[in-house]
Amino acid sequence: MPKVIVCGRGGSGKSTLVTILAKSLSKRGKVLVVDTDESNLGLSRMLGQNQPEMSLMNSLGGKSVVREKLLASLKGEKTEQEGFFREDLYLDTLPSECVGWNGTIGNLRIGKIEHSNEGCACPMGSITRSFLKDLKVKENEWVITDTEAGVEHFGRGILEGADGIIMVVDTSYESILLAEKAKNLVDETNKKFFVVLNKVDDEVESTLRNELSARGVETGGVIKYSPDINKANFLGKSLETGMQGENVDELVSNIINVMS
Ligand SMILES: Nc1ncnc2c1ncn2[C@@H]1O[C@H](COP(=O)(O)OP(=O)(O)O)[C@@H](O)[C@H]1O
Ligand SMILES: [Mg+2]
Repeated sequence: MPKVIVCGRGGSGKSTLVTILAKSLSKRGKVLVVDTDESNLGLSRMLGQNQPEMSLMNSLGGKSVVREKLLASLKGEKTEQEGFFREDLYLDTLPSECVGWNGTIGNLRIGKIEHSNEGCACPMGSITRSFLKDLKVKENEWVITDTEAGVEHFGRGILEGADGIIMVVDTSYESILLAEKAKNLVDETNKKFFVVLNKVDDEVESTLRNELSARGVETGGVIKYSPDINKANFLGKSLETGMQGENVDELVSNIINVMS
């Protein structure tokens, strides 16, 4: 079953969509939510879960250890293993200190910025790439990856381990441009692509669909503006089924059809 990456501009609703998808898919099987956005503090709140004890980065020895390993491989020095993991990974056997399971939803953080001046995010990109590639997903299991804003992570190769990309587009010109750019980048790969409009009403939905279509980007689904989602998020409460309107089941089915 699929591993998907959710992207879009900052504030477009990536974490909201990740949560809605995770909660809906968890009724059908196991879902692992992977948080790769080092400045995303609210995702576990939206899921209504506690943060895992440790990030994957820290369980691998921390940023400096990971950075050393990357530098060694850049210099062509042989290390004891290729990639960061010795063998294939499975949802059932991930280190328990890195995954918080609540029923059938697990949440795992790649790493977070913990100190000022701690350096660039390259080690996190490398771990994400290696993790998604080595993670084996069985029937009725899903991996949903929440990303930082923009499309820079495309360049870090994290698409490699994923089956498809879901692009969240909100009501902004920047989102339209970003969707066009993402579509062009995805077209260079064999990955699937699905666009979700977020925070729209009927009128805006139609305008946004046309603007995207004129740029060769077709809309796959829609989440309407919901005062309940907005309120839950600013109060740091979990998102519950029903807050996102009636069309969410159809949206999730369409995503499953395209990504499977
Ligand atoms: N469908 C929606 N209706 C109303 N508000 C929304 C909706 N989707 C997202 N929001 C609001 O938009 C803001 C950004 O959402 P978030 O999911 O955190 O974005 P991102 O992860 O892309 O930065 C939040 O305050 C959230 O409450
Ligand atoms: Mg987010």
